[in-house]
Amino acid sequence: MTQNNSAAVMQRRHEPHDSLDFFPTPPWATRALCEYLRQVGPLLSTKRVWEPACGEGHMLRPLAEYFEMVYGSDIAPYGFGAVRDFLFPGDEPTFDWIVTNPPFRLGEQFVQTMIERAREGAAVLVRTSFLEGIGRYRDLFSRFKPSAILQFTERVPMLKGKLDPESSTATSYCWIVWRCRPHKPDSYGMPMFVWIPPCRRSLERQGDYAA
Ligand SMILES: C[S@@+](CC[C@H](N)C(=O)[O-])C[C@H]1O[C@@H](n2cnc3c(N)ncnc32)[C@H](O)[C@@H]1O
Repeated sequence: MTQNNSAAVMQRRHEPHDSLDFFPTPPWATRALCEYLRQVGPLLSTKRVWEPACGEGHMLRPLAEYFEMVYGSDIAPYGFGAVRDFLFPGDEPTFDWIVTNPPFRLGEQFVQTMIERAREGAAVLVRTSFLEGIGRYRDLFSRFKPSAILQFTERVPMLKGKLDPESSTATSYCWIVWRCRPHKPDSYGMPMFVWIPPCRRSLERQGDYAA
């Protein structure tokens, strides 16, 4: 197993301002979110989900295992999904859920747009350090309280431009989930904090890393 300690995958990751920030998500990490949602209520098999920064579809494919219908789009033409900038209003229908791993430098704008546009819920996979920050607290978390924060106990290796089952990372990731309408945190106005127990082994499927 390759230990990848480079700045590219650690907290200090800096991408050029115009970078697309394409870091594909290992499919098991998306299944971990869906397993949580399945436990807490929403009957996903009757819901429609939009992945608005779908890249090469690494999140879209596992979402399709749980949701009734999936729709993918991305600002760049990866040969997968529609090509569109999520931050500009389009003519998409309303989706029950919007789920993505957003480009890092646009994380806040993505979340706000997702919450505005989703009928039922929104979920983003982000570095755990996304929870920090005075500005982000003021503009995002204090105004739009998440319903749950799901912290991975295992590391979720993400590399620029490719999936590599042998890689590891020094960066910690979590899912943040919002219930949109009515906007309600799950417990007494406070988000639930949940540890995602080790699940990589049980949630990986044959073909997840196929080129
Ligand atoms: C971290 S990658 C995630 C890719 C995919 N969601 C996954 O998890 O495998 C971020 C993606 O956001 C896309 N992106 C960047 N800016 C965008 C925008 N304004 N609207 C839609 N997609 C955008 C990039 O092209 C890239 O595919």
